[in-house]
Amino acid sequence: MRKISDIQRPSAEIRFADELAILKDWDQNRAKPEGWKLSPQAVVRFVLGDDQLGVQEKFVGTRRFIERCIVSLATQRGLMLIGEPGTAKSYLSELLAAAVSSDSTLTIQGSAGTTEDDIKYSWNYALLMSEGPTERALVPSPLYTGMQRGGIVRFEEITRCPLEIQDTLLSVMSDRVLMVPEFKSDERLVFARPGFNVIATANTRDRGVNEMSVALKRRFNFETVHPISDISLEMELVQRETNALFEEAGVPLRLDERLTEALVVTFHEIRSGKSMSGKAVESVSTVMSTAEAVSVAFASGLHAYYFGQTQIGLDQIVDNLVGSAIKENPEDIKRLKAYFDHVVAERKRGVWTEFYEAAKGHHDLGRGPHSPK
Ligand SMILES: Nc1ncnc2c1ncn2[C@@H]1O[C@H](COP(=O)(O)OP(=O)(O)OP(=O)(O)O)[C@@H](O)[C@H]1O
Ligand SMILES: [Mg+2]
Repeated sequence: MRKISDIQRPSAEIRFADELAILKDWDQNRAKPEGWKLSPQAVVRFVLGDDQLGVQEKFVGTRRFIERCIVSLATQRGLMLIGEPGTAKSYLSELLAAAVSSDSTLTIQGSAGTTEDDIKYSWNYALLMSEGPTERALVPSPLYTGMQRGGIVRFEEITRCPLEIQDTLLSVMSDRVLMVPEFKSDERLVFARPGFNVIATANTRDRGVNEMSVALKRRFNFETVHPISDISLEMELVQRETNALFEEAGVPLRLDERLTEALVVTFHEIRSGKSMSGKAVESVSTVMSTAEAVSVAFASGLHAYYFGQTQIGLDQIVDNLVGSAIKENPEDIKRLKAYFDHVVAERKRGVWTEFYEAAKGHHDLGRGPHSPK
């Protein structure tokens, strides 16, 4: 038996097993869709948190949005989460699958190389040769298993798959049945049990959701996951997530309020193309997502810790920020430099003066109009 500490990232149902148990208890007399482990009301609480029950907030979003996602899963249509990269589409689909079916691991990762076999089933060829197309020789896909068990199946980055492969889902989504022509005639149809459904995610920066066939689109309810618009909620989340990562990694550092402010405000302003005081900011081509802000903060902490510092410095934040923002277009470094020179430099208070000085120490961002000669 594997220990949790041996796994780099345990799935949500393992990480939050205590909370799922509390909700199961709380839920005893509530109505549940057939095949669900928790009621829709308990699923909302699992995702958004409930202080009284001791369940922590995991996803930052409105209750209305989460309720819509949950209701979709109880219908005969799948749930398609679309949005910019790093808006927690995958995380939300993991949380929903963990709450609804206690298993978020039935996942198909879509890519240009995804085949029909990855979606349906394949064969163990040694067994196929020795005993023919038996149930034992069949290697089920996560979708096949999800149908058999009556659970939620996650299909990540569905739009990265070739269109004809995406369409493999059509009959499964409408008739809730999968055909195995190799089986004997009375065993050919695998029917989905109650509780089965699909949550797909798609990135709007990737190949278009628009290219998906109309037939497949009709079999999903689409929900857009937006970046967090409230900056104080975003700061809270980034601080909480980063500190949880430090704790898991055994790093005795914490992201304090000053660093969180510098990091999150910078991400927010560059992403939205506008400073807090309404000044225009040129956005970079990379997506400055909340997920990226967390990884910048985490990497900065690891840097400080493993190179012998007792606190995270703004220079580490600057270094990692540049690494995260400058990926796609070399022109972006100029835009970032302009941001520091015209927005950060002029904000002469709190952490910002020091943040500007730290940027001046970076070899690509230094030598701006306000920098010391
Ligand atoms: N609204 C939000 N609620 C909770 N976490 C969020 C939110 N927005 C961003 N995050 C951060 O994003 C992380 C999860 O990112 P995830 O990989 O799920 O994004 P994604 O939308 O699937 O990105 P991609 O399109 O690149 O696959 C979380 O761990 C958290 O740090
Ligand atoms: Mg994702």
